[in-house]
Amino acid sequence: MEKKTINDVDFKGKLVFVRCDFNVPLNDDGTIRDDTRIEAALPTIRLLKEKGARVILASHFGRPKGEVNPKYSMKPVAESLSQKLSANVKLSGDVIGEDAQAMASSLGDGDVGLLENLRFNPGEEANDPEFSKALARLGGGVEIYVNDAFGTAHRAHSSTEGITHYVEGDKVAGLLMEKEINALGAVLEKPEKPFVAILGGAKVSDKIGVIENLLDKVDTILIGGAMANTFLKAKGYDIGSSIYEEDKLQLAKDIMKEATEQGVEIVLPKDARVAKLPKGEELTKENIDNAEQKQVKLYTEKEIAEGKGESLEGYQILDIGNNTQMQFADSIENAETIAWNGPLGFTEVPPFDLGTARVANVIAGTKAKCVIGGGDSVSAVKKIIKAEVNKGKDKKDFDNIYLSTGGGASLEFLEGKTLPGIAALDEKTPIQSKGEGTPKDYVNQKTM
Ligand code: 3PG
Repeated sequence: MEKKTINDVDFKGKLVFVRCDFNVPLNDDGTIRDDTRIEAALPTIRLLKEKGARVILASHFGRPKGEVNPKYSMKPVAESLSQKLSANVKLSGDVIGEDAQAMASSLGDGDVGLLENLRFNPGEEANDPEFSKALARLGGGVEIYVNDAFGTAHRAHSSTEGITHYVEGDKVAGLLMEKEINALGAVLEKPEKPFVAILGGAKVSDKIGVIENLLDKVDTILIGGAMANTFLKAKGYDIGSSIYEEDKLQLAKDIMKEATEQGVEIVLPKDARVAKLPKGEELTKENIDNAEQKQVKLYTEKEIAEGKGESLEGYQILDIGNNTQMQFADSIENAETIAWNGPLGFTEVPPFDLGTARVANVIAGTKAKCVIGGGDSVSAVKKIIKAEVNKGKDKKDFDNIYLSTGGGASLEFLEGKTLPGIAALDEKTPIQSKGEGTPKDYVNQKTM
């Protein structure tokens, strides 16, 4: 079923509720560390302003657990928006109370207001119908609903799902939401081959859905990060004191078997950067100098027993090694489509960010269609693109690289799951159908 788009709607003078994802990281002093998500929401907000809508913006920020907590106020976001839009973006003092009502009612055509953190009310995450109704009744009644919060589309919350049952007018995706669905959807629907997936991060369990959904689409899966340890252990490798998921060893074996059957190559690290810390200490930026570090080739326990390699006893694997980086680089350079999610090492503590940075560098140099999701992988690629642009390279040279604003949402999309925030939007038919429409159905439409 075809989805209605933002271009199908007349916004003039209409009260529009726009769900954004302004969940941005802050510095210790409360200033915004990375405003990517705010920048990404601007095209929709500007479009609605130009079209003369009366715009109520709403987002969650952090996890205040249903309680008002000034630490999680939307104040820095309102200030940033006011600056970027050169307009006074009013912030309401509450979410659905008198102040929010007053703010919503005061909006003239082209004005923009922002609600205080949706998660200050427990109804938001509970998808409480009463709270959903209250949101829909702001300012005398919301007339049109726009969801531009791709990063939160995997949550069935009041502002992403519940409210759509109480807004009578159109319910459409914002421009960012459309862009995300198109970019990620293209990779699932018509990937040019070879298609290489790069998966990292701590847990196999976090990525299992993606691996299963991609197995019949990809040619190669490059695995790094702590999740690689579980695969290495399952293959009989010595991983010393590295973290791994004991209860996922069988799953790792099953995945490798299925991959072989499907003709998909799973590439695991062959070497690693490892460290040993004094007993009882956990690795941090501050105590890295206390750690013994080295580059090692990885060996199976059998090889070690036969005296063919050195044991990693007491050491933790914290990054992919130089040879693995080169091997990953070869695969990436030969790919036509790349999907990457998750860091390949313990990026919080240099030098264990080198593998991730190297892979990001290779990706930034390819012409393959790339979709990158997840904070660490996105920021690694962004850093390189920024440096290249500063050196004089044209930003357009990186148009093949899509940096998703969604972490969990992009993962669930790649898992092929129906995201509630997308499913709740209008179909282009007189009969409104709810709760249907997979990402696949959605991206097949030619309207965007
Ligand atoms: C995110 O940052 O991934 C989204 O804003 C969703 O946040 P949440 O995981 O707290 O729901």
